[in-house]
Amino acid sequence: MLVCNMALRLRPVTVLSTGSPLSVAKCVFVCFQSCHATKPDMLNVHLVPHTHDDVGWLKTVDQYYYGGDLDRNNIQHAGVQYILDSVVDQLLKNPDRRFIYVETAFFYRWWKQQSSSMQQTVKQLVDEGRLEFVNGGWCMSDEATTHYSAVIDQMTLGLRFLNETFGVCGRPRVAWHIDPFGHAREHASMFAQMGFDGFFFGRVDYQDRARRMKDKEQELLWRASSSLTPPMADLFTGILPNGYNPPDGFCWDQLCDDAPIRDDPDLEDYNVDDVVTRFLKAANTQALAYKTNHIIMTMGSDFQYENANLWYKNLDKLILYVNANQSSGSKVNLLYSTPSCYLQELHRANLTWPLKEDDFFPYADAAHDFWTGYFTSRPALKRYERISNSNLQTCNQLEVLGGPASRKGPFGAGDSQTLSKAMAVAQHHDAVSGTEKQHVANDYAKRLAEGWQHCQVLQNPLISTFYGILASALFCFPQFSVGVYNPLAHPVTWPVRLPVNGTAYGVTDATGKPVDSQVCVLPRFISIRRFVTAALAKRGDMKRFVSEGVSSVQIHSGRQEEPRLRSERYLQVTFDPDTGLLSGLSNLETKQTIKLTQNFYWYNSSRGNNAESKQPSGAYIFRPNSSTPLVVSKTAKVQSFQVKHSVVQEVRQRFSPWVSQVVRLYADSKALELEWTVGPVPINDWQGKEVITRLDTSIKTSQLFYTDSNGREVLQRRKDFRPTWELKQTEPIAGNYYPINSRAFLKDDEDQLTVVTDRSQGGSSLQNGSLEIMLHRRLLFDDYRGVDEALNEASEIFPDGLVVRGRLFLTLDHPASAADTHRPLAQQVVLQPLLTFTDGDLSPETQLEFSGLQAALPSAVHLLTLSQWDKDSVLLRLEHQFQSDESQVNSRPVTVNLQLHWFCFSEEKLMLKEFEDPSVTEVTLRPMEIRTFLLRVSRR
Ligand SMILES: *[C@@H]1O[C@H](CO)[C@@H](O)[C@H](O)[C@H]1NC(C)=O
Ligand SMILES: *[C@@H]1O[C@H](CO)[C@@H](O)[C@H](O)[C@H]1NC(C)=O
Ligand SMILES: *[C@@H]1O[C@H](CO)[C@@H](O)[C@H](O)[C@H]1NC(C)=O
Ligand SMILES: *[C@@H]1O[C@H](CO)[C@@H](O)[C@H](O)[C@H]1NC(C)=O
Ligand SMILES: *[C@@H]1O[C@H](CO)[C@@H](O)[C@H](O)[C@H]1NC(C)=O
Ligand SMILES: [Zn+2]
Repeated sequence: MLVCNMALRLRPVTVLSTGSPLSVAKCVFVCFQSCHATKPDMLNVHLVPHTHDDVGWLKTVDQYYYGGDLDRNNIQHAGVQYILDSVVDQLLKNPDRRFIYVETAFFYRWWKQQSSSMQQTVKQLVDEGRLEFVNGGWCMSDEATTHYSAVIDQMTLGLRFLNETFGVCGRPRVAWHIDPFGHAREHASMFAQMGFDGFFFGRVDYQDRARRMKDKEQELLWRASSSLTPPMADLFTGILPNGYNPPDGFCWDQLCDDAPIRDDPDLEDYNVDDVVTRFLKAANTQALAYKTNHIIMTMGSDFQYENANLWYKNLDKLILYVNANQSSGSKVNLLYSTPSCYLQELHRANLTWPLKEDDFFPYADAAHDFWTGYFTSRPALKRYERISNSNLQTCNQLEVLGGPASRKGPFGAGDSQTLSKAMAVAQHHDAVSGTEKQHVANDYAKRLAEGWQHCQVLQNPLISTFYGILASALFCFPQFSVGVYNPLAHPVTWPVRLPVNGTAYGVTDATGKPVDSQVCVLPRFISIRRFVTAALAKRGDMKRFVSEGVSSVQIHSGRQEEPRLRSERYLQVTFDPDTGLLSGLSNLETKQTIKLTQNFYWYNSSRGNNAESKQPSGAYIFRPNSSTPLVVSKTAKVQSFQVKHSVVQEVRQRFSPWVSQVVRLYADSKALELEWTVGPVPINDWQGKEVITRLDTSIKTSQLFYTDSNGREVLQRRKDFRPTWELKQTEPIAGNYYPINSRAFLKDDEDQLTVVTDRSQGGSSLQNGSLEIMLHRRLLFDDYRGVDEALNEASEIFPDGLVVRGRLFLTLDHPASAADTHRPLAQQVVLQPLLTFTDGDLSPETQLEFSGLQAALPSAVHLLTLSQWDKDSVLLRLEHQFQSDESQVNSRPVTVNLQLHWFCFSEEKLMLKEFEDPSVTEVTLRPMEIRTFLLRVSRR
């Protein structure tokens, strides 16, 4: 067995104030030697030629790759294949030239099509450090709307390809997020743990930047975890000077208008002196805002270098002529460089960098331009992406448990790779973020759907192998069996809801015992379907639904009585008889009660026609035209009625023809479910609308609230406040919005109300005790950030505007123990059980229960990844899912014995084959640690 430093769990080599030498592997130094010499007594300007290639935005990822006329060049001229062709050609012409490449999704497409001699040539360029990979993930992920599990997967996909293709010299040393619209602390933490030496990005709040420029704090040390012991999550972070563009006047791409360097004095318009003078000025100005005698300039931009000769020819000349002036006393030295060469010089400077412990949200590029709308934009795509992650993890697990045979099902070959790549593409900062054009959003969804299909082929036969039956593709049975696969490493109780046609169903479990179930008739205003609901427990469990058994349905109309939901043990919910709204929540175990009112509102979106600014709300930007949201319901009392049963109790509320909700309490759940349905958002009044739900509680929050970062650690937020600079608040609503990836909470000394979300959303706390979450947005204007479309979603099924449904899960606990509930709950929402169906009754020899684990993992440990790596090995990631300060029980180091908790599949067993180091059978995880293992397994 081999414990390998895969994507995570490499020691970060951080540029620290201690001046410790970069402890990189020897072979990496070979690559580093390719850095051009610098001059200690001069200002060294590191020119970094680069291209920014979006993995889908205005065009789809494939359209961007080919860039032909049919590929919507009328929208944007861009063809990545030509960029790589041209750059390689130009690098070969002059060994001094450098280039960095970022998006492995594109590079991989290009590489596949090259001849072996071209591949050899490119390898040489990489070995010599002339072509350097930075970041190296499949894409440059969004930071506000992604979940860490999917980000780690997409980085692994890209980095693995680079390693296997180029070896150590292909390994990116820096993370490079030049375009994402705000930066998450968890991203920095992940990058530090992946072993990156530094992190560069371009976008930072304009006020933050101004302050940092003045104080020369655009380069800093980001301490990206409050749980991991420094320097595990410490990462040197550099804010680039011009976003990711060249300085003004020095853009020499075919997409730019700046004059070339005309250096023949005999010809017209000789401009060398002018160019040199302007460049020296730009360099010296930039140097004022940075601490060392090294500065970096990004020479490139979106989809540039398609005709790389233009850039390189002028850069060669720029270097020549600016450096020539050193002989007349100039103190500026230009060189072709890369981010890692620049970083090496910063490290040599041996300075102390300012420390940052919060994050870079929200991002504003002007006083009324807060990029906080995309936290919610395209809520349906955001949900589809999240549930696709769940599906991928299940698919990966089943591939491991099923062994090699599983890929060849009776319906054709299945694989997890298609979904894995579709998910990786969906992490891009114009994908799950919702900031792409509509046709591109459709393309992302289509790729995910294709991925699901490839997994289904794998899953159906697999599950039937486990159970010894063949799953049927028909979904209309008088009698049927349901397989429930739990991808978590802990037992869960998870309600299963199925659409059925009958009015009475009996449900039995694997042993033939009846399972609590009920048929719920759905109210007309929500849906016309009926559901059968059963509470199912444990992993890999099989339930049989048989229609002969009869269970009665009781529907209580709540019109007369005051609705109230109460489970035996956990929760009680009250409603206000006058308004029909939620009015209180109690935890029956801990005997806590809070006042809790919930309602739906909409912000009237700015059309960009007011006095202060022309900025409208759009796909990126949230800008309400008033700070007071409007109530959705036009009646004093919301229409509601109640359904009570032993399994589930519901109060169904109708707020308007386009907003409804089911308040749902399962008998054995610690969470209250709010299932909202919003849409089609009306726009017949010609007003864009941004729909929120707001929870107003009696919790005394003193302006504080909490939101998670990429589904992991939680950060404290404070209204109208930023921890590292004096904020001048110019947008009282949008300027207080933060990303919520999996949860947000409010707390005081006694009570903590946690809201777990089923997708990424934006939210805020604008009044004490109040938490609002934006659910859906429908807008009529473009917001001038390039997408050039209004975010106005409709589809064939929803021609009048997209209807979106989702769930919020509410828990009420003492702050000291709240994480013991919300951590596992959030994982359950992220990794949902996979259901499979079989027609008819099961044959007697069917194996009805199966577990991939001999025993559940300790409660603090989450099984993050279990996937087939290659023929003989399996990738395993274990994660401590608690922070160091949030639970008396779980915030402790925990030891897992890999030998004991191993996986078996029917009579076969997956064994850890051999141990290089026997001590690694025991793995100790400290709070928030992720450990990655490559296990060689044998099946017997
Ligand atoms: C990189 O690739 C090499 C050769 O394929 C392999 O031996 C090594 O384990 C890989 N390293 C990582 C970190 O994946
Ligand atoms: C650069 O040097 C040349 C002479 O070598 C001189 O004519 C020119 O003015 C200098 N330009 C700048 C900007 O210093
Ligand atoms: C780095 O600076 C520290 C003082 O800040 C000094 O003690 C140390 O010797 C320096 N290291 C190098 C390599 O210059
Ligand atoms: C639903 O049930 C009705 C009668 O109970 C039957 O006519 C109809 O065909 C059923 N629909 C399906 C899809 O089975
Ligand atoms: C929404 O804002 C517009 C101004 O842009 C205003 O005319 C309209 O009355 C507002 N709608 C409501 C319901 O307040
Ligand atoms: Zn971009």
